[in-house]
Amino acid sequence: MKNLLITGGCGFIGANFIRYLLEESDFTGRIINLDKLTYAGNPENITDILSRFSDRYVFEKKDICDFKGMKRIFDEYQIDTICHFAAESHVDRSIVKPDDFIQTNIIGTFNLLELARANQNRLILFHHISTDEVFGSLGMEGFFTEETPYKPNSPYSASKAASDHLVRAYNKTYGLPIAISNCSNNYGPYQFPEKMIPLMILNALERKTLPVYGYGQNVRDWLYVKDHCKAVWKIMKHGKTGEAYNIGGNNEIKNIDLVEQICDLLDEKVEKGHDRPRKELITFVKDRPGHDLRYAIDFSKTKKELGWSPEESFESGIKKTIEWYISNREWVNHVKSGEYRSWIKKQYE
Ligand code: NAD
Ligand code: TYD
Repeated sequence: MKNLLITGGCGFIGANFIRYLLEESDFTGRIINLDKLTYAGNPENITDILSRFSDRYVFEKKDICDFKGMKRIFDEYQIDTICHFAAESHVDRSIVKPDDFIQTNIIGTFNLLELARANQNRLILFHHISTDEVFGSLGMEGFFTEETPYKPNSPYSASKAASDHLVRAYNKTYGLPIAISNCSNNYGPYQFPEKMIPLMILNALERKTLPVYGYGQNVRDWLYVKDHCKAVWKIMKHGKTGEAYNIGGNNEIKNIDLVEQICDLLDEKVEKGHDRPRKELITFVKDRPGHDLRYAIDFSKTKKELGWSPEESFESGIKKTIEWYISNREWVNHVKSGEYRSWIKKQYE
């Protein structure tokens, strides 16, 4: 892998993945990070990388839906491997306005597949990053395996399911070397604070309301983002072409328990002795329509074939994450005030 195209590398997981590849992994090639810089794409997630790895890292501001622009990237950089993170990723936004989800997640992925097909002679791998949400919802028992039928319930998960099907079909029809990974909920540094964990940490820090949907009985399987990155890299290097791999945290938590845990940890750490425990900030609000009850991943295939298991415990991962959001106030302020967007405007528009 000499010229690796990473799409969505200024988002949460993509930025962590670029860091992991350049700082810790045995990857020796060059990364071309391509990102449209939507509201969720923040170049500040990766600015130090540009200066520290200038000989092995390039950034291109581009939309994966722009076929001509993408063709130029494939030609200019002689792309031989693709790791495709770019997506609209927030379920609540997909409920309010699905349009961008259809465009980016389906049409954008289709464009990349077509370009990969046009350059198939030098293509080593098209790795598609996906979610466990494509499988729909579980009851209180059972786990998603790679054989679980797709049954997506939100416009977000339906658009990801469509892209997974396209990726798989390009392998069956055209012999494109692909892999798909379906991962559970991630948490950790650089996550945009619309998602559950950073939203709750930041609201709780500021003693704002903590909005829990329904009665907080929904269950998610939380995975520390670096463990996801390590799994993706293992699959890229040693996974079987044409196959899908599940990635999970073995760490199911009910939403209400998760929010209470964050409150307790913050009470211990910040303003210890304050007379109002942060749990009092929890407010049950109207449930999300089509809210999946439970996700849980069986990742035994990934473990058996690739020797991957999560390394970070939830106890240490959540403490690190809280610490990160406390120590990176500047990042938080830029993101929350939208200040990074005016910087993007100056730099790129
Ligand atoms: P994110 O929203 O933080 O980042 C998405 C990135 O993609 C942003 O940098 C954004 O600017 C970029 N992007 C969006 N549309 C684009 C377009 N048209 N062209 C180019 N770039 C575009 O998302 P994330 O949480 O980092 O998720 C990354 C991937 O992982 C997604 O494919 C998501 O479906 C998948 N995933 C996420 C989770 C999770 O818990 N966050 C779990 C499993 C799978
Ligand atoms: P989220 O981080 O949006 O991830 P996903 O919907 O992809 O699983 O939400 C995680 C869980 O937290 C989900 O069950 C919805 C719930 N939730 C709340 O209760 N309140 C909130 O403000 C948010 C953003 C999520």
